[in-house]
Amino acid sequence: MTQSPPRRLRSQDWFDNPDHADMTALYLERFMNYGTTPEELRSGKPIIGIAQSGSDLNPCNRHHLDLAKRVRDGIRDAGGIPIEFPSHPLFENCKRPTAALDRNLAYLGLVELLYGYPFDGVVLTTGCDKTTPSAIMAAATVDLPAIVLSGGPMLDGWHEGKLVGSGTVIWQSRRKLSAGEITRDEFLQTALDSAPSIGHCNTMGTASTMNAIAEALGMSLTGCAAIPAAYRERGQIAYRTGLRAVELVRQDIRPSAILTRAAFLNAIRLNSAIGGSTNAQPHLMAMALHAGVRLDPEDWQLHGYDVPLLANVQPSGAWLGERFHRAGGVPAVMWELLQAGLLDGDCPTVTGKTMAENLFGRESPDREVIKPFGAPMMDRAGFLVLRGNLFDFAIMKTSAISEDFRTRYLSEPGRENIFEGTAFVFDGSADYHARINDPALAIDADSILVIRGAGPLGWPGAAEVVNMQPPDRLIRAGIRSLPTIGDGRQSGTADSPSILNASPESAAGGGLAWLRTGDRIRIDLNQGRCDMLVDEAQIAARRAEGIPAVPASVTPWQKIYRETVTQLDRGATIEGADAFSRLSETLPRH
Ligand code: FES
Ligand code: MG
Repeated sequence: MTQSPPRRLRSQDWFDNPDHADMTALYLERFMNYGTTPEELRSGKPIIGIAQSGSDLNPCNRHHLDLAKRVRDGIRDAGGIPIEFPSHPLFENCKRPTAALDRNLAYLGLVELLYGYPFDGVVLTTGCDKTTPSAIMAAATVDLPAIVLSGGPMLDGWHEGKLVGSGTVIWQSRRKLSAGEITRDEFLQTALDSAPSIGHCNTMGTASTMNAIAEALGMSLTGCAAIPAAYRERGQIAYRTGLRAVELVRQDIRPSAILTRAAFLNAIRLNSAIGGSTNAQPHLMAMALHAGVRLDPEDWQLHGYDVPLLANVQPSGAWLGERFHRAGGVPAVMWELLQAGLLDGDCPTVTGKTMAENLFGRESPDREVIKPFGAPMMDRAGFLVLRGNLFDFAIMKTSAISEDFRTRYLSEPGRENIFEGTAFVFDGSADYHARINDPALAIDADSILVIRGAGPLGWPGAAEVVNMQPPDRLIRAGIRSLPTIGDGRQSGTADSPSILNASPESAAGGGLAWLRTGDRIRIDLNQGRCDMLVDEAQIAARRAEGIPAVPASVTPWQKIYRETVTQLDRGATIEGADAFSRLSETLPRH
């Protein structure tokens, strides 16, 4: 019996193509300029891209510039050839009007790079919030063997002997500042102390959440997500990720084999158990869409709501990234879910093993930080999916509802989990900041703060502005949070009881557009409803007044983004982009 010849690699069509000797010469010549030899590129060794997300513009991912050296070593030692290239920077805290605008841009860019250049596989370097979903979205579309290397969280932050988590401490300090308990200088120093090293946010904000989700999906090596950026293990897993990337190509393990519906449901459950960011909802929807997996907005409630909170990590718990890692990190949380029968252990992963095999022996040694399934931090920690005449879809992270809030608003005998209040409506965050402390605005403990014009179309890009704090005078009186509703998002590090991601948004003609200050709103968590108590005839009359105005587009991309973006319930993806899938099955023409 004759042996079948080795599979011809995609990159050989560029560098080793007898039918196109002229083109091959062109493709090869400039790669020689930094010392690469024609023999290497024509050797049939897998060419592995390193999608570099770190730069001076993305400080959360910047240490990937160093980690990439270990990735290269791993690729070389496994017999591959590394080619590192930059991806579009996505820095959460700095990009105006919001980094969310650029997630789809980074996705588009990476699709073009992975498809149009001679790659056989790719290492996706991730960290800051949207770097992870944009990379996995692109890998799913192109369907090239891909592995995620997260950069890891910063070391734990400490201020005056207390743990201070990045992001979370900002929201807490803002309230203290409003209550007159700290000065502006102390505010700034606390924020600086919360971010003591290289790495992404050390809380279970969107960055840690999305990297945990990448691991739960089976897209990174076991234990990768939680290793702090500055630990020696981070460099070691960078090396192992490089090694594994080459094997993925040899074994032809592509995202389409890993990103199944079962894997996405695993990720939804993991998100509840870690008290993950509400931003996971649109990002996971977007990744599923590009992977060709049907995920419905209701899946968050059906598969995620009943899952208990196991990770005692801020903002839903007490600890930060270092202790979470030492307690076993993501595998230890997944181990609990697997034992409880809440995880599909048969899912294939980039390790070449199933998820259950990866999790073998990963029980947590630290029960203060990772709770046993039978004794969780809280039951039912997932997102509640709400609907009503204000929107068709919104989510609420019930794990962030404080006991104080619960007893003040949600525990009236016979009406548990039902709250009625008067709406105060703000058109965008400038309006909120301008008017929230206006004494003429009679906001009290019975009020609901509403923000609109903050969605994908309205902002544009969907901003993290729904976690609005009450007026200073209420905070000083001890009312530290009010219910909030909005068509924007909320920072994953925030601890507010907000109703978020309302779809369709006001700018798309959703119900929030017809709400007026003074209207009564009823939130019924038992029924999963949120309604304005305004009759149909009156709503119809308000429709005639038109949709509240939003700022005009000021860059070409803002205009294109608005023309193409879907609503947050569908992941705020590019309409129609999911028609393009498994691009690596065909070669681009010369
Ligand atoms: Fe980049 Fe939090 S701002 S990870
Ligand atoms: Mg954020």
